[in-house]
Amino acid sequence: MTDVRPGLDVPPDLLDLDPEELRRLGHWVVDRTVEHLATLRERPADHRAVVRRPVGAAGRPAAARTGRPGGGLRLLADVALEAQQHGDHPRYFARVPGPSSPVAILGEWLAVGMQAIASSWGGGSGTATLELVVLDWLRDALGLAPSAEGILLTGGSLANTTALLVARAESPPGVLYLSDQTHSSIRRGAVVTGWPAADVRVLPTDASCRLAPSVLAAAVAEDVAAGRRPACVVATVGTTNTGAVDDVVGLASVAREHGLWLHVDGAYGGPAALTADRGGLRGLELADSFVLDPHKWLFQPYDLACLWVARPGALHRTFAMHPEYLADAQKGGPSGAGADADAGAGAREVDLHNRGLELTRHSRAAKLWLTLRTYGLDALAAAVSRGVSLAEAAEGLVREAGLEVVTPASLGVLTFAVSGLDDGGHRALAARVTADGYAALSSTVVAGRPVLRLCTINPRTTVEDLAGTVAAVRRVAV
Ligand SMILES: Cc1ncc(COP(=O)(O)O)c(C=O)c1O
Repeated sequence: MTDVRPGLDVPPDLLDLDPEELRRLGHWVVDRTVEHLATLRERPADHRAVVRRPVGAAGRPAAARTGRPGGGLRLLADVALEAQQHGDHPRYFARVPGPSSPVAILGEWLAVGMQAIASSWGGGSGTATLELVVLDWLRDALGLAPSAEGILLTGGSLANTTALLVARAESPPGVLYLSDQTHSSIRRGAVVTGWPAADVRVLPTDASCRLAPSVLAAAVAEDVAAGRRPACVVATVGTTNTGAVDDVVGLASVAREHGLWLHVDGAYGGPAALTADRGGLRGLELADSFVLDPHKWLFQPYDLACLWVARPGALHRTFAMHPEYLADAQKGGPSGAGADADAGAGAREVDLHNRGLELTRHSRAAKLWLTLRTYGLDALAAAVSRGVSLAEAAEGLVREAGLEVVTPASLGVLTFAVSGLDDGGHRALAARVTADGYAALSSTVVAGRPVLRLCTINPRTTVEDLAGTVAAVRRVAV
């Protein structure tokens, strides 16, 4: 197409790619991804190489410019993207794995390829509908309050912090109660949302690493007696350290009695509520806000978190903005009807950018919607149950190997110790086993005790993988 008109000097477009070239390279990307997934088991679970030289070797981008992406794609795949923890590896048991499903990868690819945006209703009613639909499906399957409205965010850290912002906006200031097992993102969230440090109380957990309702009740009574106002409590269903599940029903009853906002962090463990016995997760319908990370145990590529808030309109009240330059994209269109409130759970036209801090938002729903539509909730629940069973199997193998179980398998997490090893010793042991490449595991501290920790949520993991990993720990430990 000619782009030349006498007197009009427009520089040429240097960025386009010939459609056939894009098709060829796209096929290469697909083949390379398939190869990655097919050969994971033969490659290291965690590969920490220093890649500064090959990746930055050509100096500034201008010097590296080739105009053809093939070499760069190979460098990405073979060097830069290889040098990382492989959360999708069947023997990656460290921190929280990310075993993304191939179907979700396809959904994500398409959304990226079609530059899918989920911002205003006018800017993307299809993508907004996908997001509202997946949030409704999961809300109902998890048993959250039917009134709960949601938003998709990047991860548990942002979702927890967003929940704290809503809690602060919707209730008068006062004391925030956490436990010593509350995820660090919430402590940081309290700081960045301006919760005064003096109003943040960290309560001790019991022998099972759970926050007992009686401990919360005592702390609340103490604060009330001292003239302070209790404002918010955070419960965790599936703690990061040990997979412990707080008694949400008991905590909710204290919260109700004293008017506290109850935030439940299910970033890790939330999907267990989809299984037949709900993994012991009860009372989720009592949460004022609830977080779940599909990029952990719902098999999604990074990044993806869900936040629900039970009080209709609360997300909108906290985050809505209506500048003149968005009026014709917001729901209701150019008439300015976009200034209407998000009308609550029943509303199907929603400007999602008015439910959180992001304006331009990638459509994170496409991959999740495709996963849910393809597999259905039962298959996903079965995959979650498999993770729970794998941790139980690992517990048996650890006992058989003569290692000490510190906290029994709980929601896919097991911690254990090697007698005679201190904190540094457990960390070094985890590092040595991981450096060997066969498996990756991590260390942590539970009730002051250094431990090794396995998180077994990858459905591709086999009992043989677990046995090999426990054997590797024994080999390095003796
Ligand atoms: C219980 C819990 N909450 C929150 C988070 C933070 O999630 P993200 O890493 O997605 O920000 C984690 C991460 O492991 C977690 O385990």
